[in-house]
Amino acid sequence: MQVIVKSNYDDVSSEAYKLIVKIVEANPNAILGLATGSSPIGLYNNMIDGYKKGMSYKEIRTVNLDEYIGLGKNDSQSYITFMKENLFSHIDINLDNVNLPNGLCKNQEEECQRYTALLATMQQDIQILGIGSNGHIGFNEPGTAIDSTTNIVKLKESTRLDNQRFFSSLADVPTHAITMGIKNIMMAKSILVVATGKNKAEAVYKMIKGPVSIDCPASILQLHNNCTVIIDTDAASKL
Ligand code: GLP
Repeated sequence: MQVIVKSNYDDVSSEAYKLIVKIVEANPNAILGLATGSSPIGLYNNMIDGYKKGMSYKEIRTVNLDEYIGLGKNDSQSYITFMKENLFSHIDINLDNVNLPNGLCKNQEEECQRYTALLATMQQDIQILGIGSNGHIGFNEPGTAIDSTTNIVKLKESTRLDNQRFFSSLADVPTHAITMGIKNIMMAKSILVVATGKNKAEAVYKMIKGPVSIDCPASILQLHNNCTVIIDTDAASKL
């Protein structure tokens, strides 16, 4: 794990952007694994600025980590909407090349199989990750099997409370999600974790210094041979 500490969110975002530029410049057809949440928004803003300055994302392909069960493209809080609002609508990406699990699927088991099969054909050149305050990655909560592939998750109460800020009330936060599994994440050629703020310090500590344990899913990333963690001083405060 390579750990880079920057002084604030903006510096974390521009440092993270350098990795994306390197990958897209080396391979315009690169496969980017994308994440939602507040952590990567600054990185996406850098990508949008890069596009305005001439960078093209026309040929890139993307796979997102996860989606809420029950939410889809017409819901303001779905992850497909998040991705459109925070990235896709502002760059020249071909929407035929973006992929997310379908939160509105009729048959959840089939959808998990479809997404896992798709991922088998789309190894991420880089997988971007945030980290939950309980150490989750994607929506792989503590206790998830290390060899999990795309699966349906019952969200922990702490995760629903963390994400309540995006909804009008806790009751509106979905109880379940569909997420890429830990194995699917670990298959990426490289991994980039971005985290900022004091509320991530404990999870960041366990991810980097803790034992490799499914009690903190992010700690599994210690086993990846090309994982970069970019954090601010607050998130690094327990290291
Ligand atoms: C959600 C997402 C994760 C994300 C986490 C942290 O649970 N499924 O992918 O990493 O939130 O979000 P934030 O970056 O907003 O703190």
